[in-house]
Amino acid sequence: MKVLVTGGLGYIGSHTCCELLDQGYEVVILDDLSNSSIDVLDKLRKLTHKEISFYQGNMIDEELLEHIFQEEKIDAVIDFAAYKAVGESVSKPILYYTNNVSTVLVLLKVMTKYEVKKLVFSSSATVYGDPKTVPIKESDPVGNTTNPYGTSKLFVEQILKDLYRSDSSWDIAILRYFNPIGAHPSGMIGENPKGIPANLMPYIVKVASGELPCLSVFGNDYDTKDGTGVRDYIHVVDLAKGHIQALSKLEKEGQGLYIYNLGTGVGYSVLDLVSTFEKVNHVHVPYQIVERRPGDIAECFADATKAKEELGFEAALGIEDMCRDAYHFVLKNQEK
Ligand code: WQD
Repeated sequence: MKVLVTGGLGYIGSHTCCELLDQGYEVVILDDLSNSSIDVLDKLRKLTHKEISFYQGNMIDEELLEHIFQEEKIDAVIDFAAYKAVGESVSKPILYYTNNVSTVLVLLKVMTKYEVKKLVFSSSATVYGDPKTVPIKESDPVGNTTNPYGTSKLFVEQILKDLYRSDSSWDIAILRYFNPIGAHPSGMIGENPKGIPANLMPYIVKVASGELPCLSVFGNDYDTKDGTGVRDYIHVVDLAKGHIQALSKLEKEGQGLYIYNLGTGVGYSVLDLVSTFEKVNHVHVPYQIVERRPGDIAECFADATKAKEELGFEAALGIEDMCRDAYHFVLKNQEK
């Protein structure tokens, strides 16, 4: 089976490509390198000893998508290509709606034309907005999103539901990630955002490695165990495996639109993550408490039951593995 992976050189995309190749899928990558690096392609080839077709560009480019579908016999698409920083999305909404929504409309148009109707879509727990209760079930209400990033994911989920309602020959899996962190245990691929990281773990890593002086903890006055934000951190390798399980369900059962939370079901606070990171890596992470970040919520973690029952998905790696692998990746790549 040949899978087009959009955003396939990015953080989650590259780990998913690694799993796909290891499990015998053929992989075609489309990536515009806006938040990824071309050297990841070579690392994937070295890691998996497999060939990979690569096209540089953005899904908004319909001609390029046409070219890919003409050149490659695509059987399914996993769509990761999107911007994902909560804070940035609040200040740049049009950029987020263009890159996260308009591009998907172009993708769906070309997939329809070439009768490729198997899609795994990278969504996010931010579609739940500020949840009334935790842990969060897939049947819990979505909406009241607190930032354009989350709203862009909500819009695409609605587009996919409307598409499926119009044509039930589509096979669609919507995966709502919680907070992916960590890196491949080889240390060859991992999270390496350009510039100052928006997300917590890459920021902690840069402070621990001395690249940044101090972590700013965005508020300690939330109604949580220690006042700091609680999230469901999931190892990116577990998350990647979840995509293969979702794809396999579309291959086997098909004819459906399925929605799954991909999380561990356990919530950790910002300070939990800092202390765990310090413990497993024997480093110090200086931090200061500052104002809350616009768009943030207090607590968000998954009820992971449905993905376990229907996909056989269960996170195997814990918070210590995530902290260890995240730092190992940076140290290994700093050597170079
Ligand atoms: C986590 C916690 C912050 C940075 C986002 C998006 C989405 C998702 C994961 C894929 C919060 C606190 C953060 C910092 C801090 N991925 N924090 N100092 O906002 O939960 O989710 O990323 O879909 O992209 O929803 O992740 O890592 O930014 O924040 O105190 O420098 O860490 O307030 O409580 P978030 P995050």
